[in-house]
Amino acid sequence: MPEAIEYERIGDIAVLAANNPPVNALGVDVRRGLLAGIERAEAEGARAVLIYGKGRTYFAGADIREFGKPPQDPWLPELCARIEASPLLVVSSIHGTALGGGLEVALATHYRVALPSARVGLPEVHLGILPGAGGTQRLPRVAGTEAALDMITTGRHVRADEALVLGVIDEVADGDPHEVGLNYTRELLESGASRRPVSEMPAPEQVNFDAVYDEVLRKGRGQISPATAVRAVQAACESESFDAGMKRERELFMDLMASDQRKGLIHAFFAERAVGKLPELQGVEPRMLHQIGVIGGGTMGAGIATAALLSGLPVVLLEMSPEAAHAAKGRIEANLSGAVKRGKLSQARYAEIMGSDLKLATGYGALSNVDLVIEAVFEDMDIKKQVFAKLDEICKPGAVLASNTSYLDINEIAAATKRPEDVIGLHFFSPAHVMKLLEVVVADKTAPNVVATGFALGHRLKKVTVRAGVCDGFIGNRILSTYRTCADHMILDGASPFQIDKALTDFGFAMGPFAVADLAGLDIGWAVRKRKRAEGLDPRARDSSYADKLCEAGHFGQKTGKGYYVYEAGKRGGVPNPEVLPLIEAERAEQGISPREFSDEEIVRRYMAAMVNEAAKVVGEGIARRPLDVDVTLLYGYGFPRYRGGPLKWADLQGLPGLLDDIRKWAAEDAYFWQPAPLLEQLVAEGRTFDDLNKEAS
Ligand code: COA
Repeated sequence: MPEAIEYERIGDIAVLAANNPPVNALGVDVRRGLLAGIERAEAEGARAVLIYGKGRTYFAGADIREFGKPPQDPWLPELCARIEASPLLVVSSIHGTALGGGLEVALATHYRVALPSARVGLPEVHLGILPGAGGTQRLPRVAGTEAALDMITTGRHVRADEALVLGVIDEVADGDPHEVGLNYTRELLESGASRRPVSEMPAPEQVNFDAVYDEVLRKGRGQISPATAVRAVQAACESESFDAGMKRERELFMDLMASDQRKGLIHAFFAERAVGKLPELQGVEPRMLHQIGVIGGGTMGAGIATAALLSGLPVVLLEMSPEAAHAAKGRIEANLSGAVKRGKLSQARYAEIMGSDLKLATGYGALSNVDLVIEAVFEDMDIKKQVFAKLDEICKPGAVLASNTSYLDINEIAAATKRPEDVIGLHFFSPAHVMKLLEVVVADKTAPNVVATGFALGHRLKKVTVRAGVCDGFIGNRILSTYRTCADHMILDGASPFQIDKALTDFGFAMGPFAVADLAGLDIGWAVRKRKRAEGLDPRARDSSYADKLCEAGHFGQKTGKGYYVYEAGKRGGVPNPEVLPLIEAERAEQGISPREFSDEEIVRRYMAAMVNEAAKVVGEGIARRPLDVDVTLLYGYGFPRYRGGPLKWADLQGLPGLLDDIRKWAAEDAYFWQPAPLLEQLVAEGRTFDDLNKEAS
């Protein structure tokens, strides 16, 4: 095993090179190597120490895998103090990303040079903690309180040019980090530069910390780490000494380290990296994609086309008439103009895309040469089958045939072709050029390299891509349908949609289920209810029709200005629609239900238990390979609060036995809805957690 820190002596300079791929995380070997390197340089009589990273980056942070485990010496804060206290001149040469503990090490060195492409930042709040190795104390001393508060509470990555202006780095120079670092260190030695410990700089200026705290807490929607970090920066300004500030930082850091939010956020970090890694795809080459086709240019089709065009993929968009094609073009133009406005797309590239990358067509023949085609037409099995039969005739051999259906059976769709191995589901979320989630739905006969192509496309479109099996609603919409049903039952029994939405946004959801329904369009739920009733509801299932009455009156939510809420043009969000409660009351009377009070806590508990129970069924049936696939789906497609890690991480943290007890208790009132998931029962019986299943699968 090579040393995690390699030592090299070049004249007066001891060079410490980190060699801990892939990102030079500051694990215990790296920390020990740095300490040993500093001691050796001092013992050998070097005049300066240069620290840099081999490979793609300087230290990209503390080793996140060590969080929550017993600490091993030397601790990062002690190591930083030791580096800073060295009598030698200590210099960092930064390339790639100096993040978190990485930037803290850099701030403990006396001078910092960076390549123009480098980025620095303290993203710890995204992991539920705060910089715990002096970042909250040293950064405000070099960059000022306001800039430090901004960087620490947002965790944003700052480019080298901005970092230079802020004083976070001292010099920007292009080249190889080893050479750049050596040149800069030599210059410093030649100019007689002296050591420059940041801890000896004056305390930074005061600001109104209470006001900043309140604002950051509000923006965090229940996430505590950014606001807690404000208090740590405050300590840098107000403590009697640097050491006292460090002590306060440590206390706050330890509080956060012990929090469930830290556990949830770190679970989310690793889960979103694990979703794309499927053992069955190891070594499977995806098919090449040079050009794709999209059928249907409504909101969904236009969004998918936009995402593909933004990634550089040429698109042939098929519509049924010149008018519809024209309208689709308008939607794509509007989406791309938005990207230009936000600085995500240059005007020149926009012109190129509209001029040559996007082709509109009204006949299937235009799709004869595409490598992959995604159908985004009306959600109707007969229509989908006709489309796929046509694609089977027209598309070249080896083309991937994908459906964007959100719940229909891909096996049945595939059976409409003579090449079911080429058929797959690619379930995008609307608006598809904005939403980060993509479900790759694998049917019985889908070829492995078609699955790999789905993942490769997701990667190219910068989507978080999750594998799902075939069932009604796949992973996300199937679980949604269950927790929505739970919310509907609570309404029948006495809760109001507005109370439910409020309880759930207080829990951390971006929106409550009824505000979501208004956004998506109430006609969608109405269509699903009609379909399910037509298929025949189980006589034990509870049903309600008050929402149908809203639809019958033409109220479809935001797009018609009225649904559960009333929306005023130009205003964000809506106010409760006064027509809703009377409809609900009438329905309760009709069903002979006497309403009862629900506490917010009970609402959350029931809603979450329904979600977890269905999610456990989805995992147990193999629709999701691992619990983490469900967690990532809910985080990226359904506004689940990231700091709770996802529903199954949340369930683990709550304790599975208690949840199962509740489900069994509620089964006494409604045995049909509250059927415990066999997997949940099994885990409880074995004293295991969902995360144990994640670990076994990796
Ligand atoms: N500790 C441990 N492992 C880390 C890590 C860290 N701080 N940062 C990244 N990794 C791992 C990833 O899990 C991934 O492992 P895998 O290949 O087994 O999945 C690998 O390094 C590459 O990371 P990835 O995110 O896929 O690469 P990237 O080039 O897209 O992004 C970073 C690189 C550094 C920008 C990104 O990984 C990142 O933001 N890391 C966290 C940085 C951070 O928060 N540091 C503060 C901690 S104090």
